[in-house]
Amino acid sequence: MSFAQYMDIALYDESIGFYATNGRAGRRGDFLTSPEVGPLFGALLARRLDEEWFALGSPDTFVVVEFGAGPGTLARSIAFAAPECARALRYLMVERSAEQRAAHADHLEGWLGDLDAAGVDSFVRGVGPGPQFASSPNAPYGITGVVLANELLDNLAFDIVRHDGAGNFERLDVGHAEDGLEFVVVPTEVPTPLESVLSSAAPGEWMPLQVHATQWLAAAIDRVDRGVVIAIDYGATTAEIAARPEMGWLRTFAGQERGGHPLDDPGTCDITTDVAVDQLGTIARPSVLTTQRQFLERLGIVQLVEEGRQVWAEKASAPDVAALRARSRIGEAEALLEPGGLGDFVVLEWTV
Ligand SMILES: C[S@@+](CC[C@H](N)C(=O)[O-])C[C@H]1O[C@@H](n2cnc3c(N)ncnc32)[C@H](O)[C@@H]1O
Repeated sequence: MSFAQYMDIALYDESIGFYATNGRAGRRGDFLTSPEVGPLFGALLARRLDEEWFALGSPDTFVVVEFGAGPGTLARSIAFAAPECARALRYLMVERSAEQRAAHADHLEGWLGDLDAAGVDSFVRGVGPGPQFASSPNAPYGITGVVLANELLDNLAFDIVRHDGAGNFERLDVGHAEDGLEFVVVPTEVPTPLESVLSSAAPGEWMPLQVHATQWLAAAIDRVDRGVVIAIDYGATTAEIAARPEMGWLRTFAGQERGGHPLDDPGTCDITTDVAVDQLGTIARPSVLTTQRQFLERLGIVQLVEEGRQVWAEKASAPDVAALRARSRIGEAEALLEPGGLGDFVVLEWTV
């Protein structure tokens, strides 16, 4: 099978897939993402949602579709931040794994349930005061609002290809070895729109071919009548990714540590890659491309941390929960802005 087929099974198969069994983001999970660092990321995303809501003329129904919501931590932080758009907010957590969706109800006031496709349609078109939250494996079309994905695209199944400099491509497939699985090199073709992007990598270097990520983006843009698609992830150009020594872009994680070879013990670790921003660009050029650091600074992270420092200074002798939360912003901001880490993630926005 192709590596993309293998990866889809290893991550999402209902009986053995990593995300269908135990795998998840979080401090007690397998890797730390920005929403799992603490509530500060959600507080800033809530500001971005408000910006968009105002830009759209404060519509009575403002839909946010968060893809790959994991255990629902970002939604909880956004709810806690109480953005101005809350009264219009219909926030749908689209998550492929039923195991992860089962966690969405926890500590989320206004959660209406795990919806089927028809339920999703009425959820995003219904009336009544917000904020309202719901979960589903299905996503709607025709929305006014925001499609959001934090660290989703790096988890969508990809293939592994290289070219020889003369327009010929090869792919790494997965085959049987005597004692497990092994990579097998086979000739392949690549989708025409991606051919020139892939050819920008040096000949002979393996690189990810992210067809599922580009298809996700095309569909995400289609889902929005008016609004914005925002994707946040670790990303680089295809040529930069391919240049990493020893396929350093193909990573596995389990229990907060780097895992082993992606073909060992399928289902026991996350499999991920840097997202090729130029492959996404073949669908539509982003309206905005910044680092996470620039994005969060623009939304006022520095002021929020300063406010936190002041609250802590006033209450340090007899701290309450609010004071502890205020102090925690300092460490959270360091993690979210860290050079070489979350701070260097890319934030891609496509205005529709
Ligand atoms: C790396 S986790 C990120 C979780 C969360 N967004 C965060 O930042 O902590 C990726 C999540 O995307 C989910 N996922 C993968 N493919 C998906 C798809 N096509 N639609 C919805 N969710 C998907 C996985 O099950 C997993 O929970």
